[in-house]
Amino acid sequence: MQADTALEAFQHIDVARMSPSVGAEIHGIDLSQPLKDEQFQDIRAALGLFGVIFLRDQDISPADQLRFAKSFGDININRFFHPVEGYPEIANVQRQPDERGATGWYWHTDHSYDQVPAMGSVFAAREIPPVGGDTLFAGMTAAYDALSEGLKQVLEGLEAWHADTVCPEVADPRIGAEFNDRLPGLETAGVRAKHPVVIRHPISGRKVLYVNSGFTEGIDGWNRAESKALLDYLFDHATQPQFTYRHRWREGDVAFWDNRATWHCALDDCFGYKRVLHRITIEGEPLRAARAD
Ligand code: SIN
Repeated sequence: MQADTALEAFQHIDVARMSPSVGAEIHGIDLSQPLKDEQFQDIRAALGLFGVIFLRDQDISPADQLRFAKSFGDININRFFHPVEGYPEIANVQRQPDERGATGWYWHTDHSYDQVPAMGSVFAAREIPPVGGDTLFAGMTAAYDALSEGLKQVLEGLEAWHADTVCPEVADPRIGAEFNDRLPGLETAGVRAKHPVVIRHPISGRKVLYVNSGFTEGIDGWNRAESKALLDYLFDHATQPQFTYRHRWREGDVAFWDNRATWHCALDDCFGYKRVLHRITIEGEPLRAARAD
């Protein structure tokens, strides 16, 4: 069997890829205990390399989840979801059996509308349906790499606007009304920011495509039709199956995704079952354009 040389760098965790483009499973970490510095370094490197990492069979409290998240940065308190009782930093991504629609059922990356977008999220699976409720992830490093050299050159000169008013729950009040109980903060939407279309990833140092269908409004300086044509192409390109991984949740799973390197999309297929996951979002750092190098 041929060796996967990317995995040889990890000394303190065991890593197995979930797909060639995005996602890896990490073994050898118990999140109910504080991380050792060398474990922290390996986990951070794995996040940069694979975009989203999964730790299985974690028997952790909300306080353990919070300690793990805080070791990677300050917490960004979510404006939209109800918090977990006693933990304002933890968003309760919860769906009751009789509730229709999944929050975040479209491809997106969290917080791209902020001036300094969130680094990532730590997502703990608390109650999972026997079938359905999976989450899709797409890898934006692989999606960028697969573009032609000509299009890469065009994209590296561009910036795009992102807004929290673009997502369907805010853009269409009829859709929003269906989520009022689960997303009490929807009326706070109205935040916009401009970012490079291709960024240099702060951990991996790789070039990453940084637009997403959930929040990207348009290309700076382009008209609506031009923007739509380019963005639709990029959205179709980036969600091709070879850039994606579909995660079937098990209770006790903890996912940690990097918003600067991945998109995600919750599948809306578990009507009749309760689904509860707890999300903590970690602050990021200013994005750096790849063309600045
Ligand atoms: C999210 O969009 O942050 C949550 C995704 C999910 O519920 O699977």
